[in-house]
Amino acid sequence: MAEPDQIESTRRIQTNQPSSIVLSPSIESSIKSLKALFLTPPEILRAITDHFVNELLKGLSVKGGNIPMIPGWVTEYPTGKEKGDYLAIDLGGTNLRVCLVKLGGDRTFDTIQSKFGLPLDIRTTEASKLFSFIANCLSQFVEENKHILDLKDGHKLPLGFTFSYPCSQKAINHGVLQRWTKGYDIKGVEGHDVVPMLQDALNELELPIEVVALINDTTGTLVASAYTDPKTEMGLIFGTGCNGAYFERVDQIPKLADQNLKCEYMAINCEYGAFDNEHKVLPRTKYDIIIDSESPRPGQQAFEKMILGYYLGEVMRLVMVDLHEEGVIFKDAKDTKKLYEPYILDTSFPARIEEDPFENLSDVQEVVRELLGLETTREERELIRSLAESVGERSARLSVCGIAALAKKRNLKECHAAADGLVYNKYPQFKERAAKALDDIFGWNLPMDQHPIKIVAAEDGSGAGAAIIAALAQHNSK
Ligand code: GLC
Repeated sequence: MAEPDQIESTRRIQTNQPSSIVLSPSIESSIKSLKALFLTPPEILRAITDHFVNELLKGLSVKGGNIPMIPGWVTEYPTGKEKGDYLAIDLGGTNLRVCLVKLGGDRTFDTIQSKFGLPLDIRTTEASKLFSFIANCLSQFVEENKHILDLKDGHKLPLGFTFSYPCSQKAINHGVLQRWTKGYDIKGVEGHDVVPMLQDALNELELPIEVVALINDTTGTLVASAYTDPKTEMGLIFGTGCNGAYFERVDQIPKLADQNLKCEYMAINCEYGAFDNEHKVLPRTKYDIIIDSESPRPGQQAFEKMILGYYLGEVMRLVMVDLHEEGVIFKDAKDTKKLYEPYILDTSFPARIEEDPFENLSDVQEVVRELLGLETTREERELIRSLAESVGERSARLSVCGIAALAKKRNLKECHAAADGLVYNKYPQFKERAAKALDDIFGWNLPMDQHPIKIVAAEDGSGAGAAIIAALAQHNSK
């Protein structure tokens, strides 16, 4: 039986605190076994990291491997002196961001931006509709900002296009989509260069814009942060997807050896969401296996599917379905239809559950009622809370294996790893858990603010980063 709503309750100081109520044996044993299922002890993280380093090396080899390690054609660290006005767009999961970035040339920048909501069916629309939607948004932006844009005859506004999907790049203004990730599945784009697709849509509307650079969000994050903070060595996204970029020495990239490049460094968009597609080291649970097999691209993005934004709520839902079918939770529920709806719970579900500060978990009660239409008893809420903590903690701990592997690969002892994305910025305790996991891997045993490899909040990658890369691209083409 569900309990009546309680009006008052005391504050719970922290999460991860043992509950003050006596739990029934079935709830208690479910909590224990789920904790064990999602556990990632230091030795597992170290084993994952070691395998990760080998996979990064394979990705750079001529033969290649699971992790694509895509050269991003940004061949120098920014100096901070890059200057000028650039347009930048970012096709995200739920909106299209359009910016005008004014680079100050003194490690500073200003941004004017608009956000356009993406049509609901965008993930499965047709290619032409996607690009004409983007062009229309840009047209509106240019019209609204014409008083501050340089629209003199013949001048084309340079645009950096942040397109955060794995694209093979032969040059900075080129990118053939290898495969869609993060639930996108638009026909007619995979295997094609997306730059002319966008440029054609812009030309169709006679917009004075030239796409000068195609950028992954990780590379943008890396460059934007390096522009303002020279200690930056990695750009990371913990959002709907999970990925990292870093600068590699060109003489350490065998697959570029035949190009006789003169530059010393090359930004690499690792696309390490694809790490361990062979399932050698990641501790997959049956829930991860279901998520993978029911996704539009089974067998791909193994690492990403276990840990990040798009999938966290779904893992929780699948576990709760099992718990319900085992008779542990929602026993008297009349209508469990929503519980059986795939992807009904986005990342805000575990996040809100973990954020509940109240002793009686009244926010958990609200969230479950609101999103699943189900009532909960106090001990069911304890179980759901503990499950959210396990899933959230696993996500943070596994995701830093990418950082540790990049640091080991480049032999970096001290640096800043610039991170961005909804999960990094908004998920409760992600930052603390991630830092603790990094400490577990390297064995520093130091407080978070003294970690030699520090995960820091990134600068605006898809705005400033795209603009700086566009500036570097224009400088190099002169
Ligand atoms: C996915 C994409 C990758 C992107 C990441 C974060 O992994 O494949 O390109 O960087 O999500 O947005």
